[in-house]
Amino acid sequence: MAALNVGRLNRHFPERYLESLKALLAAVEMSLENYQLSYGSKLPDSVLCEPGKDLRVLGIGSGSGEVDSAMLKKVLQRHKTVYNRVVEPSGEMIERYKTLVRKDKSLGAVTFDWRQQTAEEYFQTKEDTKFHLVHAIHVLYNVEDQDATLRSIWEQLAGGGHMLVAMESDTSDWGKLQYKLWDEFGQGDRLKTSFRTSGDVKQWLDARGVSYVTSQDDININITECLKEESSEAGRMILDFLTKTPFVSNYPEIKSTALDFIRCNSSLVDDKVIFKLINEVVIALKK
Ligand SMILES: C[S@@+](CC[C@H](N)C(=O)[O-])C[C@H]1O[C@@H](n2cnc3c(N)ncnc32)[C@H](O)[C@@H]1O
Repeated sequence: MAALNVGRLNRHFPERYLESLKALLAAVEMSLENYQLSYGSKLPDSVLCEPGKDLRVLGIGSGSGEVDSAMLKKVLQRHKTVYNRVVEPSGEMIERYKTLVRKDKSLGAVTFDWRQQTAEEYFQTKEDTKFHLVHAIHVLYNVEDQDATLRSIWEQLAGGGHMLVAMESDTSDWGKLQYKLWDEFGQGDRLKTSFRTSGDVKQWLDARGVSYVTSQDDININITECLKEESSEAGRMILDFLTKTPFVSNYPEIKSTALDFIRCNSSLVDDKVIFKLINEVVIALKK
């Protein structure tokens, strides 16, 4: 049973996933605001549209909109008006995003088109609109079929448009932990689970001869709670998130494999045990 759920936290246990995501975000050792704002500077200056037209942006899995709005502010420096379509299945997230937009007057030149849908539902509807920028920031772990989603994103990009995808890096310790757990306990097709990394996106682009640029940022996580003999609920949820496996603490073999790996690949900083994640942003231009 546990082996079947390895890497399947997001899809099989969405509520536990959301709780464990919150626990992970609370353990991040940097300002979330700085992380969110950093996406503005990642966008190339050359995101362009036809003169006199709105710049069209499509966000997949936009969440509560902090990262999106950093990117919207960047494109507003060069474009007078922006049309922004938001595809996000969670009603709660969309409400938070709308509140952010209402409060932030600097987004006044953006027309929002809210779509409360999963990427799968959205891409099933036939759409002719082409976008100058399509982004999916830490979302592709959640979709059913990553390849099909990348294909649909690519189809909705205008010629000269940019696709921006952020994922955990395949070269990070967290990426390596996921590959290790998959090798030892995984069942079926890894790409059908959420054990997906930026390496899979780069492979998808390589296979199609598409060139891209990438950038990486370290994100430190305080995992002290996970390593305590009697770990707290927060520690257990962080471990679920890192292993992408629901209630992993109930499965001693998987838990000890994960904890051994984490112990060997973490460092002690000011009484805190720190595990490093690497956020990789991949930007591809459609010619
Ligand atoms: C880790 S959050 C990232 C949110 C935002 N992009 C950010 O970087 O702050 C993942 C988001 O994907 C959304 N999501 C989950 N399943 C999805 C799906 N099948 N299609 C599109 N979005 C999905 C979730 O509701 C959540 O808002």
